[in-house]
Amino acid sequence: MQTNVGLLGYGTVGAGVARIISLEDALLCQKVGWPLKLAKAVVRDLSGRRAFPAPPGLLTTDPSEVVANPDVQVVVEVMGGLEPARTLVLAALESGQHVVTANKALLAVHGREIFEKAAQSGREIFFEAAVAGAIPVIRTLKEGLAANRIQSVAGILNGTTNYILTAMSRGGATFEEALKEAQELGYAEADPTTDVEGADAAHKLILLTALAYGVLPALDDIRAEGITKLAPADFQFAEALGYVIKLLATAASNPEDGRLEVRLQPAMIPKGHLLAGVNGAMNAVMIRGHACGDIFLSGAGAGMMPTASAVVGDIVEIARLANSQSKLTKPSLGWQSLKAETVKPASDIWSRHYLRFSVHDRPGVLAAIAGALAAHNVSIAQVIQKEADPGTGQVYLVMLTHSAPVRSLKAALDDAASLEGSLGPARVIRVEEFREGR
Ligand SMILES: NC(=O)c1ccc[n+]([C@@H]2O[C@H](COP(=O)([O-])OP(=O)(O)OC[C@H]3O[C@@H](n4cnc5c(N)ncnc54)[C@H](OP(=O)(O)O)[C@@H]3O)[C@@H](O)[C@H]2O)c1
Repeated sequence: MQTNVGLLGYGTVGAGVARIISLEDALLCQKVGWPLKLAKAVVRDLSGRRAFPAPPGLLTTDPSEVVANPDVQVVVEVMGGLEPARTLVLAALESGQHVVTANKALLAVHGREIFEKAAQSGREIFFEAAVAGAIPVIRTLKEGLAANRIQSVAGILNGTTNYILTAMSRGGATFEEALKEAQELGYAEADPTTDVEGADAAHKLILLTALAYGVLPALDDIRAEGITKLAPADFQFAEALGYVIKLLATAASNPEDGRLEVRLQPAMIPKGHLLAGVNGAMNAVMIRGHACGDIFLSGAGAGMMPTASAVVGDIVEIARLANSQSKLTKPSLGWQSLKAETVKPASDIWSRHYLRFSVHDRPGVLAAIAGALAAHNVSIAQVIQKEADPGTGQVYLVMLTHSAPVRSLKAALDDAASLEGSLGPARVIRVEEFREGR
């Protein structure tokens, strides 16, 4: 007996998977009970350079050598993108193959259709590598914490942005300087848009929300904001106020109204919090359950071997399952279990905020801004005003607010922006408190 594995893609992750399956064959055989064998790997260009050399005859440009091939039991989709990945994954499930994917964009956009197909076909779709790379967060939510009502999930889910934010907070670099450094060191793509604008982390947050709450939000439901507007001054003020800035993904069930709050935003985190100490390209997730309390997981969120570690873990689990049942009665995340419930609109969410106003150093400006906030019931917890720049007469006025609805804050800031002495819209960063019961 053996389990034959077909790869759709032999790039960074695919080559890592091939490396582990080839070099750790004895270890994997011991864990599964019989050998795993690489059958075929689909690529676009047979002559491309490979990080782990493919044995002769492994590579092909014909997907039908993997998908719906009766000799291949497990299809591993590591090609990325939406098409042809979607069509191939659906065809694999339809034909009775199990699927492992690392493709968070595919599941975030087409998850409902793909999970439905898996359920109809009685086949599994595993995706541990799609969120936080090597960290086994999917399995933790799906199995280890199954007894819990999940109160919140908070994570640093994108290594590129965490590398950039760490560089900005340590060295006083601008966003552009930190991005350039990240690109030179291989932590950022030549086109970093999906990372720095937040889409990549938002896709992962959608999957965590589905696992924690049985709700698959649309990308538009999430208040997703990237890191491109952060300035060195924000990091200096954060430091002075006792915070660290992170791109934080959170899904939480609000204990007051029971509704789901899902956000991806730069956030100020208290310096002493575990997530504040997650630096460089590392990822981390904190899960709070009603029975387990706080669980903290941290590790490499990307890269050839860490990602392959998660993919091969899924292959091993499927190989064991596939022997015990020819057709699964209930795949672990069937679409039927996904509720239609929507997430709370961002404007209804309550939060504390950091506000940085750029103003002319004139008498009355501070009082006028405070008045605009008070008029919308946004109360101020702390104020910092530095000496004005002698050349321009401009000054930063920084405020920390108490908790208030985003809707009220927005109305107050619209009013404040039109006040005499204001030099434009305030920079706003959410302040995360990690309150008990959330
Ligand atoms: N890289 C990471 O650290 C990481 C971490 C977590 C998740 N992921 C996810 O894993 C997936 C793969 O990422 P990767 O970094 O390994 O990508 P990659 O290095 O660009 O590799 C993609 C592979 O798929 C093949 N491919 C792409 N489109 C194809 C098509 N239309 N037909 C046939 N073959 C095609 C490519 O063929 P050629 O080699 O011939 O071009 C290549 O072998 C993505 O969904 C990504 O989001 C990656």
